[in-house]
Amino acid sequence: MSILVTGSAGYIGSHACQRLLRDGHRVVGLDNLFRGHQAPMDLLSEAHPDRFSFVHADVGDTDRVLATLDEHQVDTVMHFGALAYVGESVEDPLWYYRNNIAMGIGLLDACDQAQNGRGISRFIFSSSCATYGDPPEGMIPVPEHCPQAPTSPYGYTKLHFEHILKDYATKRRRADNPIALTMLRYFNVAGSDRTGMLGEDHTPETHLVPVGIEAATGKRDSLSIFGTDYPTPDGTCVRDYVHVEDLVDAHTRAMDRVEIGQVQAFNVGIGKGYSVREILDSIKRVSGNDFIIHETDRRAGDAIALYNDPSKIQSELGWRAEITDIDEIVSTAYAWLRTHPEGYGS
Ligand code: UFG
Repeated sequence: MSILVTGSAGYIGSHACQRLLRDGHRVVGLDNLFRGHQAPMDLLSEAHPDRFSFVHADVGDTDRVLATLDEHQVDTVMHFGALAYVGESVEDPLWYYRNNIAMGIGLLDACDQAQNGRGISRFIFSSSCATYGDPPEGMIPVPEHCPQAPTSPYGYTKLHFEHILKDYATKRRRADNPIALTMLRYFNVAGSDRTGMLGEDHTPETHLVPVGIEAATGKRDSLSIFGTDYPTPDGTCVRDYVHVEDLVDAHTRAMDRVEIGQVQAFNVGIGKGYSVREILDSIKRVSGNDFIIHETDRRAGDAIALYNDPSKIQSELGWRAEITDIDEIVSTAYAWLRTHPEGYGS
């Protein structure tokens, strides 16, 4: 297949490109390099010169995206490109709405006009468990039918775009030209490619696992736990950490198994919750290093506890996380960050 990956130079998008290329597909990556990196694009081009190409553009640049879709005869789009910091979205919500929704509509316009006006066949969207906010009682682990009530603008951008996509899929069905639409609601993604080629390199880095590893390797002096008074067993927030390669595997399954005409949403998470303290303990075990931890106020927009009920994705896509041990997930992140202390700039 010929696949457009938006956000290809980012953490998850680059891992998706790598997997799709390994599976023999033709891949065109698209990224504005605002937070993504040229280096993984170069590495993938070197490894797969005949089947990978990279376009430096905004997802909302409809003309450029359309030209790319047509040139590469793309039938499937995986849309990863977005701003993705919960805290930042609270500080600057309009930026998040403009980037994640308005630009996404620009992408959809191109998808609609491609293939000589027939439109692309498959669209897989990176949604988020942040669309659930704080689930009501009895809804943790979180099933897909849990009410969606985000606690942050970031979560709302993902929820609104889900609605936009569903309306678009309805239009295609009514025009007798259906599309396969999958919305994958990720839980927290961690770890890196086990060959050591790709990793997680964010600026700024705010995610718990890499921040903890930076503290363990001495790149930062200490870290803060944002809130120790949550109604959880140890007072800190609980999340479900899925390995990035397992997450990407869910995309390939969605591409292969969700049929034209279907609109599907799946949660992607291993089905087990870890508290912030448990993750920090894992980082200490894996690295063998201790580090200073401060306890500070809650971070705005954070949900209390979120972990997945993986029943639907298991039964309908046959997906199961291969790596479920938290130390193993942390080890892959640690291996890359130890050898790449400055990320791709190392
Ligand atoms: N945390 C700390 N200290 C830190 C960093 C994080 O205590 O230095 C805590 C956070 O408060 C949160 C947990 O660790 O309770 C996880 O935080 P992350 O920033 O690693 O991840 P988030 O849960 O905020 O966000 C991630 C993705 C989002 C996604 C969301 C769904 O970045 O894209 O998971 O929960 F939507």
